[in-house]
Amino acid sequence: MDREMIIVLDFGGQYNQLIARRVRECHVYAEVFPYTTSLEKIKEINPRGIIFTGGPNSVYREDSPSCSDEIFKLGIPILGICYGAQLMAYKLGGEVKTAPVSEYGHTDVTIDDPQDVLFTDVEKNTVAWMSHTDYIARIPEGFRITAHTANCPVAAMSDPERRFYAVQFHPEVTHTREGQKILRHFVVDVCGCSGDWQMDSFVKTTVEELRARIGSGKVLCALSGGVDSSVAAVLLSRAVGKQLTCVFVDHGLLRKDEGDQVEAVFGPDGPYDLNFIRVDAQDRFFNALKGVTEPEKKRKIIGEGFIRVFEEEARKIGAVDFLVQGTIYPDVIESGLGKSATIKSHHNVGGLPSVIDFKEIVEPLRYLFKDEVRQVGRELGIPEYLVDRQPFPGPGLGIRVIGEVTPEKVKIVQEADAIWREEIRKAGLNKGLAQYYAALTNLRSVGVMGDFRTYDYAIALRAVNTSDFMTADAAQIPWDVLSRVTDRIVNEVKGVNRVLYDCTGKPPATIEFE
Ligand code: XMP
Repeated sequence: MDREMIIVLDFGGQYNQLIARRVRECHVYAEVFPYTTSLEKIKEINPRGIIFTGGPNSVYREDSPSCSDEIFKLGIPILGICYGAQLMAYKLGGEVKTAPVSEYGHTDVTIDDPQDVLFTDVEKNTVAWMSHTDYIARIPEGFRITAHTANCPVAAMSDPERRFYAVQFHPEVTHTREGQKILRHFVVDVCGCSGDWQMDSFVKTTVEELRARIGSGKVLCALSGGVDSSVAAVLLSRAVGKQLTCVFVDHGLLRKDEGDQVEAVFGPDGPYDLNFIRVDAQDRFFNALKGVTEPEKKRKIIGEGFIRVFEEEARKIGAVDFLVQGTIYPDVIESGLGKSATIKSHHNVGGLPSVIDFKEIVEPLRYLFKDEVRQVGRELGIPEYLVDRQPFPGPGLGIRVIGEVTPEKVKIVQEADAIWREEIRKAGLNKGLAQYYAALTNLRSVGVMGDFRTYDYAIALRAVNTSDFMTADAAQIPWDVLSRVTDRIVNEVKGVNRVLYDCTGKPPATIEFE
């Protein structure tokens, strides 16, 4: 491959994806590979640099993930992070031990060698994120110590001659104050990368590749209106135009006006030259959901219903050559590329339809992170309200209406959710929140309005901060915003007399209610 690339060798760390993301923020392409990747494969890729990730093990245990001694002889720069740092020390003849005091969290770090290329322009006393119980007790020959903390004599070490660098802390997390700078020094100054990984060149190359691959074939895409499928569809449409058909299944569980927004962009009046089919399947879904209250059952009904409708439409179109999937890189990593301790179970709607006759799957976004997908969307001129859309579960409002789903309840939650989102945006809070929405609890309670007793629903507002959606904190929303939203919801949305804010994190709750 001609493209400059950094390999992130995954030893089971929590932050493996984050490292690749941070490297890409330096405009250098990075990919995560399992630590078991063969030396031949690494040689074939011929990366500009290799980063060893952290991991939960101790290097001196027999069964711990390790690497070949030969990797150190390739002449390729290596940066070891946390476990990766210890592994480098251990493999090259140093010593790793259980630390007398383990460090976890924000830690003061003193830079001992400000001349070290990693620490150029880094403050002598800086703050880094530590998370370790072992430490490097003795450095290997050829190395020198470049940073320490109160409890960790080797917070960083380097051997500039062989271009080996190691840091005990995690430069990839934002808690490490100058982490991005340190990573950039490795990628640019040590590995010599020029930083030419840009989304406009991604669009150009991908469109060319897609054209070459698809030729005059027929392409089918299930469009959800979410960011990933929208961007995939536009890329495909740019590559093969009318050979692409997008099927948009409107199950009636979308947010307010969402169906029309999707149609405005992808339909016949929109800017793209593609075939667009909007299937109005609301009645079908509401009928199937009648009387069903169990969350998993609801999910199943919606997921399967979606696939059935899609299959029916696909059959009308006839044999297609290519099926588009909006798979993105975190999906690829999470479904078992690496060896990370926790892997989130996937709740995407459906999986692949079984009866559609197609030859190949195209996944044009397979190597992109979400923020890169958004950038590609902007490159392609997709409107900001689509590009910037927050994650929305496949089963839609079906899992934000607790208990039985009816059209009336969906209408209530749509209206309340639209108000919540509008006010969050107006207050300028949207950019800082990972996800926010309203759910309709199944709770009805007594209230009083205009001297009359009411017995109506309670709406729950949710807003969370998270970077990986595996854990999350409830966001602290200013009281005046909550109070304004509450007033608006009880006044404007019929059937609601109470508004609650969900203060629970994940765990113990989940982000969605069901
Ligand atoms: P939970 O509720 O598991 O949600 O904390 C984590 C993230 O996943 C989204 N989510 C889904 N996304 N299909 C999806 O595509 C689903 O079935 C689904 N369920 C939850 C949720 O919105 C949050 O961003």
